[in-house]
Amino acid sequence: MPAYKLVYIPGDGIGPEVVNAARRVVDATGIECKWQAQFAGLSALEQTGDPLPAITLEAIRGADATLKGPTATASGTGFRSVNVALRQQLELYANFRPARSITGIESRYDDVDLIVIRENTEGLYSGLEHTVVPGVVESLRVISSKASERIARFAFETARRQGRKRVTCVHKANILKLSDGLFLESCRKVADQFADIEFDDCIVDAAAMKLVLDPHQFDMLVMENLFGDILSDLTSGLVGGLGVTPSANVGDGAAVFEAVHGTAPDIAGKGLANPTALIQSAVLMLRFLGEKEAADRVDRAIRSVISDGTVLTGDLGGSAGTAEYTDAVIAAM
Ligand code: NAI
Repeated sequence: MPAYKLVYIPGDGIGPEVVNAARRVVDATGIECKWQAQFAGLSALEQTGDPLPAITLEAIRGADATLKGPTATASGTGFRSVNVALRQQLELYANFRPARSITGIESRYDDVDLIVIRENTEGLYSGLEHTVVPGVVESLRVISSKASERIARFAFETARRQGRKRVTCVHKANILKLSDGLFLESCRKVADQFADIEFDDCIVDAAAMKLVLDPHQFDMLVMENLFGDILSDLTSGLVGGLGVTPSANVGDGAAVFEAVHGTAPDIAGKGLANPTALIQSAVLMLRFLGEKEAADRVDRAIRSVISDGTVLTGDLGGSAGTAEYTDAVIAAM
């Protein structure tokens, strides 16, 4: 078996620290990997004048998978989000966000196991904004049947592969009759082709309330971009927050795995960051590559270190640094 070609993007803030930790864990599984560093975000802007250089995009396209650290984006002004640009330019149309409880992490529920699938390329993130007259701005929310059916198919195929029983389409079709009406209709059309998986739908505000009151009533949720952005953070909150939640951005020609947290400028460079979310993202990457045994081994090691509770980072109430925690995960493997 030839070595996997993996790109890593250190990113900004705590990015290099958590990416380094995740790479150490992947290497410790023993699978053959050839890592190549590429740059994006502020670090790339400083080095090349471009926050998302063409060479980085090219390398991601040519790799088996990419592990990405968080990249900084200023609100309101400055360059456009690297993440949004990356997803659009590489057509990483599916954002996959599992939320699974980890014993030892205090949270409202202790047995959550659900997945949010978010359409990644359109909706309000199309970037189509303009000033109509001074003081009035319009943002265009684009929904197409092509992208909606594509994300619905991704959800159902993933559900089937992972043995999930039900897919729920989250929408606001009662008010946004045309745009979300089309999204819901597209999901229904695809659902008809997957008789083995249940399908239902839920209005987004009701879904938010139901998720907080009783997340166990959901299995897999599929939704457009903005709703997915918000509700996937909510589901992260159900299992212990941003420090432990992974994600995958998948397209037909590339896949990028990253934590859902940001660059954490307040703790950057101090060796204090919790690398769990990025290591869990590497677990998703290993599964994507077909390395199930290695993925299970890393997942079990994280769970045993956290439930043991002796070596935990500060955000989880411990006093260990990034390196010490990573050593513990590797030792548990
Ligand atoms: P953030 O996630 O960076 O930080 C929020 C809080 O959580 C901070 O107190 C931070 O210390 C803590 N935190 C986050 N990750 C942690 C970890 N692994 N271990 C321990 N504590 C952790 O969110 P914020 O402050 O809103 O964003 C900072 C920057 O990150 C912004 O420029 C934003 O655009 C960017 N960002 C990038 C993302 C990405 O590249 N995927 C995602 C979210 C934000």
